[in-house]
Amino acid sequence: MFDLKEYLQRQREIINKALSNSILRFCPSDILIKPIQYVLLANGKRLRPILCLAANSIVGGDISNAMPAACALEMIHTYSLVHDDLPALDNDSLRRGRPTCHVQFSESTAILTGDALLTMAFEVLSEAGLQAPVAIANNYLKAIQIISKSAGCRGMIEGQVLDLAYEGIKIQQTELQHLHTLKTGALIRASVEAGAIIGGGSKEQISHLIDYADSIGLAFQVVDDILNVTGTPEHIGKAVGTDAARKKNTYPALLGLDAAKHYAFSLIDRALHALSFFDTDTEPLRAIGHYIIERHR
Ligand code: IPE
Ligand code: IPE
Ligand code: MG
Ligand code: MG
Repeated sequence: MFDLKEYLQRQREIINKALSNSILRFCPSDILIKPIQYVLLANGKRLRPILCLAANSIVGGDISNAMPAACALEMIHTYSLVHDDLPALDNDSLRRGRPTCHVQFSESTAILTGDALLTMAFEVLSEAGLQAPVAIANNYLKAIQIISKSAGCRGMIEGQVLDLAYEGIKIQQTELQHLHTLKTGALIRASVEAGAIIGGGSKEQISHLIDYADSIGLAFQVVDDILNVTGTPEHIGKAVGTDAARKKNTYPALLGLDAAKHYAFSLIDRALHALSFFDTDTEPLRAIGHYIIERHR
């Protein structure tokens, strides 16, 4: 039987090793290396790189080709957390079970650490493309386009802009879905899509994987909203009750806790359905779908 815990543990280990090596290679700064290691090598779930590697594997790709993209995705995600926690954004002081970057170091250090991680991600990606055989190099170019789009004004940044703009304003479910899809869903979709593209997936395979990713991406943020209500700082490694305090628009606030949970379950059902297209081993992606809904952190 497929052992999810063991699988996640193993994937996290290889991803952490690759991230650690990337920092040493790409950050010669004696000063900045400390906060970069502090935030990037912290206890994150590594969902985006794990998804990237799993999508690569389901289409028959080689993990060594996908690993640089997996690392780049985690760098972008981690930068987004460092900036999200800044006083000007969510003003949080606990992340991944530790003081946030601006609390541990300084606000200027947190801004520059985020800048460095975002830039490093594209150094890692472009270098991997340049070093790869021609066919894979072209896939890397496509992956860079997808990842950059998902992280910017047509994705995560627009989501963050809306998240802040809507604070204290009551929006409807259509707008909330749009916000969550951009803020969190875009990078999750890009993780799956980039992994599948680098693995040489067909158009049809990629289209089913995108359906899967869009559903789990939205479910992931719905669960994040729920854990902000029902979780404890010890479990989730960040403060709780903060969404309500800041009058954020969330699924539990809009629908109530039970309906929000029910909605997240229905999204995971939809995601699993999208996998029925594949006759290769779907177990890791299926298990990740279950994990997203059952997680306590
Ligand atoms: C937190 O992401 C922010 C969201 C986009 C919901 P994760 O819950 O993946 O955070 P880490 O990487 O495990 O710390
Ligand atoms: C974070 O969303 C999304 C990004 C960093 C892009 P939230 O602000 O809702 O996530 P947490 O609760 O701080 O992790
Ligand atoms: Mg936020
Ligand atoms: Mg936040």
